[in-house]
Amino acid sequence: MAVVNIDRREGYAILTINRPEALNALNREVLETLQEALITAESDSSMRALIVTGAGRAFVAGADIREIQAIPSPPAAEAFSRWGQNIMTRLAESRLVSFMAINGFALGGGLELAMAGDYRIMADSAELGQPEILLGIIPGFGGTQRLKDLCGEGRALWLIASGDRINAERAHALGIVDEVCPADGVMPRAEAMAATLATRAPLALEAAKRAVRAEGGMAHRLKFEAAAFGLIGCSDDAREGTAAFLEKRRPRFQGS
Ligand code: COA
Repeated sequence: MAVVNIDRREGYAILTINRPEALNALNREVLETLQEALITAESDSSMRALIVTGAGRAFVAGADIREIQAIPSPPAAEAFSRWGQNIMTRLAESRLVSFMAINGFALGGGLELAMAGDYRIMADSAELGQPEILLGIIPGFGGTQRLKDLCGEGRALWLIASGDRINAERAHALGIVDEVCPADGVMPRAEAMAATLATRAPLALEAAKRAVRAEGGMAHRLKFEAAAFGLIGCSDDAREGTAAFLEKRRPRFQGS
């Protein structure tokens, strides 16, 4: 059975990490398959969005602890971290808008995966955390930086240094997740949001994601926004969208 299931819908794909016997822990096979699934979805021009979730009672309970224990040397440990970071960054930089449907535990690499996505919807019964310190290590797939960006230095350091798990209400209050739903509402909500984006102008959607995610100082980010606006401001879809508004009809976007 595949360790990542791909379910194609109209305009979006659902990637389900499917290793429930290990609470979907990210071993090499799972991460490589996840990356391949992402590339496959991106290469389909009809796709606008992605949902990532976990099979069974966990979203992802971390990187695979057996594989971490077998890392032979400091250079190998650094390479392992760079490899995982690159996969998370690949997701963060994807043209597809990603909804992370946190159905259960999102721990360690699982939280790092969730934070690399664009929008996090968390089950009210789920828990998240960066418990690596309890294993004598630290987050290595981007967690120290993405957690700090989401909830600030003090709170990120506390979560990472204590290894504490927190519930959905606290995660929402800290700004780590965007929404909390009853467990059986997580996927319907993610699907409704992904389906909405599937109706939006494709080039504008991609430009919106890239502009919101632009990094650097404000002046640089504003230049980036203007450049992105310049690329799409006179597109066929921009002509169509504005014409449809003025003619009081629905737009038909072509992605050009
Ligand atoms: N890597 C490898 N295997 C893992 C795993 C991980 N990150 N997380 C869970 N598993 C495995 C367990 O070893 C167990 O396998 P087994 O049935 O062969 O013994 C199975 O998943 C179920 O986990 P279990 O611990 O029995 O479930 P639980 O309900 O008692 O506890 C957790 C759930 C999430 C609290 C607990 O599994 C846990 O703390 N996992 C590790 C979290 C972590 O430290 N992540 C960071 C890794 S860097």
